[in-house]
Parts: sequence; C-alpha cells; structure tokens
Amino acid sequence: MILSIESSCDDSAISITEIKTKKLLFHKKISQELEHSVYGGVVPELAARLHAEALPHILQQCEPYFKDLKAVAVTSTPGLAVTLVEGVTMAKAIAVSLDIPIIGVNHLIGHIYSLFIEKETIFPLTVLLVSGGHTQVMEVKSLTEIETVAKSMDDSFGESFDKVAKMMGLGYPGGPLIQELAKDGDRERFNFTVPLHQSPLIAFSYSGLKNAVRLAVEKSDESDYKDIAASFEHIATKHLTMKLKKYFKTVKPQTFAIVGGASANLYLRSQIEELLKPHNAKLLLSELKYCSDNAAMIGRVAVEMYEKEMFSSVEKLDVAPRSYF
Ligand code: KG4
Ligand code: ZN
Repeated sequence: MILSIESSCDDSAISITEIKTKKLLFHKKISQELEHSVYGGVVPELAARLHAEALPHILQQCEPYFKDLKAVAVTSTPGLAVTLVEGVTMAKAIAVSLDIPIIGVNHLIGHIYSLFIEKETIFPLTVLLVSGGHTQVMEVKSLTEIETVAKSMDDSFGESFDKVAKMMGLGYPGGPLIQELAKDGDRERFNFTVPLHQSPLIAFSYSGLKNAVRLAVEKSDESDYKDIAASFEHIATKHLTMKLKKYFKTVKPQTFAIVGGASANLYLRSQIEELLKPHNAKLLLSELKYCSDNAAMIGRVAVEMYEKEMFSSVEKLDVAPRSYF
C-alpha cells in the first residue's frame, strides 16, 4: 500500500491506496474553507498552521496500515510553498521512520488522475484543467508525456469565481456560491466582453472580465447580483468554449476530460458537452467528490510512479510553488 498526502492549498488530505488493485482503502480530507471564508480567499500562513493541526490528526487514523506501507507519496509541486512544506515534512518523517521510499507527486498530474481513481487509465486524452490555481489545456499521452497547449496569461477560471464572490461579499470558495446564485439569474443581462475574443491566440485571460464584473458590482445593488453572477458565469465559460472550438479546428478531440475543482461547475459541463457533440468525442469527468483537491488522486498517481520506480530521496525532495510541463 501507499500512503499519500495532499497539502498544496487549503485541504489537508491523506489516502491509502493498494498498489496491485489501485483500490482506495482509506481517504480523509479536512477542508479549511470556513476558516478562510471570512478573508474571501486563502491566507497561506493560516493554511499552514491548519495543516499542521489536521494532518497528524488524520495520520493517527492510518496507523493500522503502517506495517503494510511500501512507499509514502506527497504533493510537492505546484502550490503554496508554506503549505506544501507541511505535507512534505510529514512524508519525509514517515519515509525515514518506516524505511520506505518517498514519491514527490505533481498536483496537476494528480488532478488528471482524479479521472482514474480505482479505475484503469485511458490515454491519449485532451484535458481541460480548471482549478483555483490553473486554467490550462493539456495533451496527455501517458504519465510522463504531458504537453500544455494553452494556459492562462493571468488569473484562473476558478480564481475569478472566488474574486467575484468576494466582491459580492458571498464568502469563499466562490465557485459553488456563484453557481448557486447564477441559477436564477439572467445570463444575457450584463453584456461582458468575452476575453481575447479577437485574438488568434489559444490562451486564456480572466483579469479583464474580473474588472468588468467589479465595475458592474459597484454600479448595482444586491438585487442585481444574481444576474451579474449568471452573466459572469456565462462569459467565463464562453471564453473557454470559444478557445477550445478554435483549438479543435486543428486538433480534433477524441477523448476529452475536464478536471480540477472548477470542473464541478454544471454550466461549464453542459457547455463543453454541447461543444463536443459535433465531434462525437467522449467526455470524461471525475466524480464530484474528487474534483476538488484530495489525496485519493495523489495516491492514484503514486501507484503509477511506484511501478515505474520514480522515487525521490528524503534529502533531495523539495517543494516547488510553480511547475512546468
Ligand atoms: O482544484 P481545487 O480544489 O484547488 C486548486 O488546485 O486550485 O480548485 C478550487 C477552485 C476554487 O477556485 C473554487 O472556487 C473552484 O475551484 N470551484 C468552482 C466550483 N467549485 C469549485 N468554480 C466554479 N464552479 C464551481 N461549481
Ligand atoms: Zn487542485
């Protein structure tokens, strides 16, 4: 079995995955959403302290599995340096005390493998990753052959929901709150400009839209918020579908996946479904409970890395706030 730890942002999570069967034997996550909600976003220092409290608490529950552990895995990149360190330090202590190898997992690859928890992998895949930290399209051929073909030039899709929710004083995380508010709103009422709609670039940008929404919020009162939320969600999603449509002109999608915390967005899911219809492409989605950060997805990657002996060392494994591929 492999014990895997996730602490890249505001979720403390540990999983136990059986190597041979890929079965998820244990998974526990403690989210810090309530604690960060008053600030309208994640406060890194507070997040680190909460991980230091939550991770040992979850680890205690894993004690019965210790004797069967063949490796310990941990998210080491990308994420908040001060929170990644919490998980990595714990993983190193486990590796030393149980004398087992350590595996450093890339969180973004974790999101891709959230599609395959307790399942076999399906490749090649075109993946749209939409989370709080990232908005990017990747061509994935295997664990080690991942190419980013489009990414955000500034804010991410999920982050823009968080910022809009903050402007309206709704709390954090903004994604589910805006989605709920948008349900009864008029998507056409606020005519926000689709980002980069005249640009030939296949890239994303959310800072302009965020500012346009800020102006609308400032000029409106609370009774308009549901229409602003609906119009924002519509344009934020249209930006993704317009750029993907352009991309599909040169690279036809066969199997397409949406992953990351914001892949839980139902409007986004429905619009992508529509977009894929003429291509007869298959859409893969993670289970809702594995869209946001979790350790089950880290464990799923760890099994693949264990089989390929992609180990790190206690001395060398370091955290990297940014990651590239
Ligand atoms: O993957 P994740 O848990 O953390 C990162 O790796 O960043 O994603 C969290 C992000 C937050 O920005 C949150 O607002 C967004 O995902 N999110 C959503 C929805 N649910 C979560 N965004 C839009 N619609 C949702 N339903
Ligand atoms: Zn994530």
